[in-house]
Amino acid sequence: MSHASIVLIFSIAVAVAVAFTKAFTTPSKRTHTSVRAVRTLLNPPDIPIVALLRARSIPNQRLVKALGISSTFVSDDPGVHDTFAREAKVLITAVSTKDGWSRLVDVAETCVNRFLDAKSLDYATFVQSVTLSVVLAGLLGTDIEDLDPADVAFVTKAINDRWAQSKSSTALTTEVLDQINHHIVRWVPNRTNPLNLIIPAYETMWRVAAIAVVYSNRDCLLRDAFISYDENPTDDQFCAFSNEGTRAQPSVEAIISEVLRLHPPTRHITRAVVVPWWKRPFVPSVDVADIEGAQKSSMFGSDTESFNPMRFHASQSAPRRDQLYAFGHGKLKCVAASWAPPAAAVITAKIMAKLDGVAFKLQEGPRVGKREGWEGWSIQRV
Ligand code: HEM
Repeated sequence: MSHASIVLIFSIAVAVAVAFTKAFTTPSKRTHTSVRAVRTLLNPPDIPIVALLRARSIPNQRLVKALGISSTFVSDDPGVHDTFAREAKVLITAVSTKDGWSRLVDVAETCVNRFLDAKSLDYATFVQSVTLSVVLAGLLGTDIEDLDPADVAFVTKAINDRWAQSKSSTALTTEVLDQINHHIVRWVPNRTNPLNLIIPAYETMWRVAAIAVVYSNRDCLLRDAFISYDENPTDDQFCAFSNEGTRAQPSVEAIISEVLRLHPPTRHITRAVVVPWWKRPFVPSVDVADIEGAQKSSMFGSDTESFNPMRFHASQSAPRRDQLYAFGHGKLKCVAASWAPPAAAVITAKIMAKLDGVAFKLQEGPRVGKREGWEGWSIQRV
């Protein structure tokens, strides 16, 4: 065999080996955007719970290293699922009683006042700090006086950074996580790994409140809806639509639903496709439920790219709040799907009551952020 043939055969062999290695190791994603496909992916028929948990836990493994999560989000154990879901429901039930709710409302007000006194009035830091404090003091029983604003701001920033880094790199040191837990254990001394409960509540709620404030600050009808809810934070007021002059005023429930529709905090819900190794080159390894895309479908009315809470009015044919997919769907749907919207509304209402343009006002930045992207936004003393 000539030298040239040997080189050619060797090059082909290397190319084939590279192609095979790539095919067997690269995760391939398949994105599901239609409402029907999202429903089927999240609630597949006749699949045992352990398989559902397994499919969820695999893409979430990055949260083990980044934030030390050990809950049902990263485990395929049905026992872990039941215990954790029950623990979360017990917390929510306690703050849903009449007394529990009015305590939560008071906690939210105290937290807003406390952080308006803080040095930094960077908008994202402010809403993150208020929300983390409401979760800690309102749900987990921390004494508000123990929440030093600088420590709270440090923890919120560190959680955000760890989350972002977990998506891009695998080399995370434990140092920052240890610092986060140093504070968390001080604030919540009587629970094992409190971040398990804090993360799903805090990570989603701060963004709902931040965006609800933005829209309500731009439109006096929405502002008035939150001011009325601030004065009367009841179920009836939460759902009340009214008329102001010629324009209809959406309910606070409709405003929060529209935030969850157009800006769902969990934009994508991922499930691993568990297949034998030899099938992997031919089957995607991750299925993605595109919640954001599905909620912009025509099922949610017309002009679904724009923010219009009135699409949730009974006179419209658009779906109700319980038909949103922002909380997932099926057996693993969020246990706080009914509790979180009024709770986020209380935080929003308490902030709106302060942003009256007399004492404080919101300075907008170039674009509405997601988890990141709030540069240029701040609260200013007038
Ligand atoms: C607006 C706020 C919230 C949003 C958008 C949200 C979103 C979600 C989503 C999309 C899931 C399903 C994940 C999946 O299918 O893999 C979920 C599950 C869950 N969420 Fe929430 N969540 C919110 C607030 C909360 C709060 C306040 C708590 C706790 C107090 C909480 C606790 C949980 C728990 C325990 C699960 C797991 C349920 C299970 O596996 O059976 N969430 N959430």
